[in-house]
Amino acid sequence: MAPVPNPCYRFVSAPAGYPDPAKNFQYDASRTIDPDNVDLKGGFLTQTQFLSVDPYMRGRMDAGTFDCWKVGQVWAGFGISEVIRSEVPEFQEGDILYGIQPFEHYSLHTKYEGRGKLWRVIHNHEDLPLSVYLGMAGMPGKTAYYGMKSIGDPKAGESIFVSTAAGVVGQTVCQFSKAWGLKVLGSTGSDEKVKFLREELGIDQAFNYKTSSTAEEVKKFGGLDIYWDNVGSETLDVALKNMNLKGRIVVCGQIASYNGEDTKGIKNIFHMVYNEVKMQGLHVSTLESQYVDEFYATVPKMIEEGKLKYTEDVTIGLENAGEVLVKVLKGQNVGKAILQMWE
Ligand SMILES: NC(=O)c1ccc[n+]([C@@H]2O[C@H](COP(=O)([O-])OP(=O)(O)OC[C@H]3O[C@@H](n4cnc5c(N)ncnc54)[C@H](OP(=O)(O)O)[C@@H]3O)[C@@H](O)[C@H]2O)c1
Repeated sequence: MAPVPNPCYRFVSAPAGYPDPAKNFQYDASRTIDPDNVDLKGGFLTQTQFLSVDPYMRGRMDAGTFDCWKVGQVWAGFGISEVIRSEVPEFQEGDILYGIQPFEHYSLHTKYEGRGKLWRVIHNHEDLPLSVYLGMAGMPGKTAYYGMKSIGDPKAGESIFVSTAAGVVGQTVCQFSKAWGLKVLGSTGSDEKVKFLREELGIDQAFNYKTSSTAEEVKKFGGLDIYWDNVGSETLDVALKNMNLKGRIVVCGQIASYNGEDTKGIKNIFHMVYNEVKMQGLHVSTLESQYVDEFYATVPKMIEEGKLKYTEDVTIGLENAGEVLVKVLKGQNVGKAILQMWE
């Protein structure tokens, strides 16, 4: 085969506030690759099918943050790709892989030695759309599952408040909470998403935090045994004030301040004292070895059986990666933001 285009998507400058795709990113269509003849150097070659665009990527653009991207670097994130050629025994041509990869059409993995655990072959016995392995059956679903198991510690009859409830992490937390017998309150940023939470996911109460008072809605719902925090800022402060005795707060994300917005000061920490509230940060990667087998044995099957519903927001074309990220950061996505390489 003659060389074919191998476009990639680069980070070229740090944003101040929300990213500006035209300024901060570059779609580089100049590169080519010869998939049949490129030297694998003992590694393997993959062709990208789907890429995941996630809120944490905004943090990677700020110098000095954990694992920040370097100027000129090709974006990296979770993806689903197909093995085109392989010189490693673990992966065969045609295998579908899930793992962290560059945002490009073809990826050559030559420095493979010892890095096999970074990839997982997706057997997909449940015949799910492969993109689902980036959402509810991927890192965000794991975040929900691992976080509830390790920090949320739910018991039937308890109550939970989930912020950003209509996003992929929130949807998963809400549905597990219902399945485990909890009473669920969700907040989200549009009436359409509120309707989805109430009518499709069947959670007990949901409200639009842009048009209702979070303080009043939480008070009306009653005391909280668990607060799942995707947002931080004022929402966290309201939750702190309404926690029940020995309540748990899972600090999963702080999206209200990812773009340098002013975080409103937390005033209600003292409520944790008499109520003996536990508040703990969650990092999905560190819980992987503990829960990964249980997760893959449970979640894809529940999705196949219709016990877990999901929504996706799919955009076609690598050149749109930056716009998709902005959409996620502004709450314009409805469900898991996925970048599909081709029609
Ligand atoms: N700790 C971990 O290991 C880990 C792993 C994965 C994800 N996370 C965190 O989990 C959270 C949810 O991630 P996701 O992948 O499920 O994303 P997502 O919910 O699909 O997308 C982000 C959503 O955040 C909401 N949002 C944006 N700006 C907001 C603001 N100022 N105030 C309140 N809500 C805002 C928007 O929904 P609305 O329309 O509802 O506003 C938007 O759709 C994020 O905070 C993310 O960083 C943490």
